[in-house]
Amino acid sequence: MKFREIMVSSHSGPYRIRVGNRIKDEIPGWLVEMGFPVTRKVALISNVTVRNLHGNAFSASLAARGFSVAGFDFSDGESYKTLDSVRECLDRLLSLKWERQDPVLALGGGVVGDMGGFVASILLRGVPLIHVPTTVVGQVDSSIGGKTGVDHPEGKNLIGSFYPPQSVWIDPSFLETLPLRERRSGLGEVIKYALIGNRELLRFLDGNLEILSGERFDRDVWEETIFLCASHKARIVSEDERESGVRMNLNFGHTFGHALEGAMGYEGILHGEAVGLGMIAAARVARALGITGEETEEVIRAYLKRACLPDRWPSGISFDRLERFLKTDKKASSGRVTLVLPVRPGEVVRTRDYEPSVLGSGIA
Ligand SMILES: NC(=O)c1ccc[n+]([C@@H]2O[C@H](COP(=O)([O-])OP(=O)(O)OC[C@H]3O[C@@H](n4cnc5c(N)ncnc54)[C@H](O)[C@@H]3O)[C@@H](O)[C@H]2O)c1
Repeated sequence: MKFREIMVSSHSGPYRIRVGNRIKDEIPGWLVEMGFPVTRKVALISNVTVRNLHGNAFSASLAARGFSVAGFDFSDGESYKTLDSVRECLDRLLSLKWERQDPVLALGGGVVGDMGGFVASILLRGVPLIHVPTTVVGQVDSSIGGKTGVDHPEGKNLIGSFYPPQSVWIDPSFLETLPLRERRSGLGEVIKYALIGNRELLRFLDGNLEILSGERFDRDVWEETIFLCASHKARIVSEDERESGVRMNLNFGHTFGHALEGAMGYEGILHGEAVGLGMIAAARVARALGITGEETEEVIRAYLKRACLPDRWPSGISFDRLERFLKTDKKASSGRVTLVLPVRPGEVVRTRDYEPSVLGSGIA
């Protein structure tokens, strides 16, 4: 089986990411290689949608290798990324007399990964965690770097932990069943990596973005894209796990993007779509501050169009509605916001301490 490996450093030691089409069939064997005996329990944490598409077959292949599989499914959707959902999962695993050496395997998108990771980090003060991401966002971003957590009515991802997985297994062929809109939304994060400085990816997207946003799923092009992005994220989090410096660059587009998701009640807009619009807003703020020229916004808009992503802010989202969410962004300090702003396509700067009112130019 062909796959490529990426190593990541973390406070609890290095872990490996394997990327390759169709590697999912190898995973039960790799669990054994990692030292989990086949007589032991594995929690397969997923959601109802992914369980039906992939989880049942995956569970059967684990059972065929002798694993005792405990399944738990969250309800599907960002609105279920809550402490209540985490509590239900903890109740189930504790009722099964979970032990500290028994692993949790999170199979799903970013929502399942964030909650499965959080469960693993607090259950019995930490059980082994394996990520098997099944969305673009999961594969290029959320499964790498150890951030786990849930949302709170005050804002997104406000409760959580840094808890690195023991391993991440990325099979791009999972994306074949992803609805087209979700796949395209993931391209928002992919474009972000290119625009914050991944020149190899920028060149690759120049030749392949229409293939990626097309209806036909091209496994090889997707595998290369996922590998380039996952490698980029791995490099950054290895250098700055706790997000005190360069990791903040990954938030390009996210301050406005998260605020937009919050202002829309997490309905009607997907994460990557919001990130794309957040990058436009950041370009507008950068222009208002004299950091970049007007062409940057146009370049970003052109990438979003090629990816079939929205490139205009939804009407009816006033700055007043956004402001509350901008202030409660995790990266805010004393109510002031830290932003990642583009200097030019492929280069960003981190800025600090802007009054939220300065940010109004982002959506003006
Ligand atoms: N921890 C991190 O570092 C980090 C980074 C980025 C994003 N995130 C979080 O990730 C979440 C967004 O993740 P997402 O975009 O993957 O959304 P998601 O997890 O909600 O998945 C999107 C949809 O796709 C479905 N799905 C998943 N895999 C599928 C497949 N293979 N085929 C068909 N359908 C499938 C899901 O059931 C869901 O309906 C947000 O909560 C965000 O905060 C976390």
